[in-house]
Amino acid sequence: MAQRISLTRYLVEEQRVDGSIPAQLRLLLEVVARACKSISQAVNKGALGGVLGTAESENVQGEIQKKLDIIANEVLIEANEWGGHLAAMASEEMEGIYLVPNRYPQGEYLLLFDPLDGSSNIDVNVSIGTIFSVLVKPEGEGVSEQDFLQAGAKQVAAGYCVYGPQTTLVLTVGDGVAMFTLDREQGSFVLTQEKVMIPEDTKEFAVNMSNMRHWAPPVTRYIEECLQGKDGPRDKDFNMRWIASMVADVHRILTRGGVFMYPWDKREPEKAGKLRLMYEANPMSWLIEQAGGAATNGKQRILEIQPDKLHQRVSVILGSKNEVDRVTRYHAEAE
Ligand code: AHG
Ligand code: MN
Ligand code: MN
Repeated sequence: MAQRISLTRYLVEEQRVDGSIPAQLRLLLEVVARACKSISQAVNKGALGGVLGTAESENVQGEIQKKLDIIANEVLIEANEWGGHLAAMASEEMEGIYLVPNRYPQGEYLLLFDPLDGSSNIDVNVSIGTIFSVLVKPEGEGVSEQDFLQAGAKQVAAGYCVYGPQTTLVLTVGDGVAMFTLDREQGSFVLTQEKVMIPEDTKEFAVNMSNMRHWAPPVTRYIEECLQGKDGPRDKDFNMRWIASMVADVHRILTRGGVFMYPWDKREPEKAGKLRLMYEANPMSWLIEQAGGAATNGKQRILEIQPDKLHQRVSVILGSKNEVDRVTRYHAEAE
């Protein structure tokens, strides 16, 4: 039997090969993985663990929080605050940044997360996940929200953990994408795929079609052409999937290709999109690019967007390169 490579061993070997993972970053990734294991346990217990249903609170985005949104947020904070590897954290579920308490040593990294992605799927037992992004704190005293406002291209690590039929951790430190499956008996993440690559072409798209009448013309054009299938200009039939958990949709795309979109729509024109740049779009875009795919907001590479707010939203088109390029070209042609 081939030797099993644990997440720990993978990180140690990556560090040895090209020094891309400093010790503190390795610790950080191990801690995040441990937190994900614990969230996975809570998710698995479901109704038996009393974790289903809504909490009586709203987050800063005005969304009703689920119990599991809050539990996952607390698990990530408690796991990460004492290790000495972080300066501060930011989360979809917290309005401001969370400073590492004074009683603990301060590290040089900043951690951002969407503790529980796909909240609407919790109670119906469909895949959900945790998304995270790691930045280096800029030089200088203390830490402020401003320190977090770095373009996605500056990330030093990014990943997600999907809680589905299997619990899978997917990670990049800028050296390709690796996938680890949780071995529940051993309690460890085991490397199950390395150097993940997304096919450049696809016949599968993921978008919430119920919003179609609100989209901008280039997005409508692209989807209409897909829908025409063999009878239209694309000359091939397309298939559609929409899980309503970005983690699960992105995981499918990393596994077999496809294009995912959550575009701007005209219901709230001042909002750039639904998804959040810093802890949803940036980490996912980097993973997708590391796997040979592309990610844009229709006009610009997502990783190059300079954020001006922690909870900034963005229009997202990501996945198989040729399809993302096509949607982006349709935007340029519409200008
Ligand atoms: P979250 O649960 O963290 O708020 O994110 C949900 C996001 C994303 O995961 C998913 O792709 C999208 O919202 C689903 O939106 P619709 O319900 O509009 O389809
Ligand atoms: Mn989310
Ligand atoms: Mn969330």
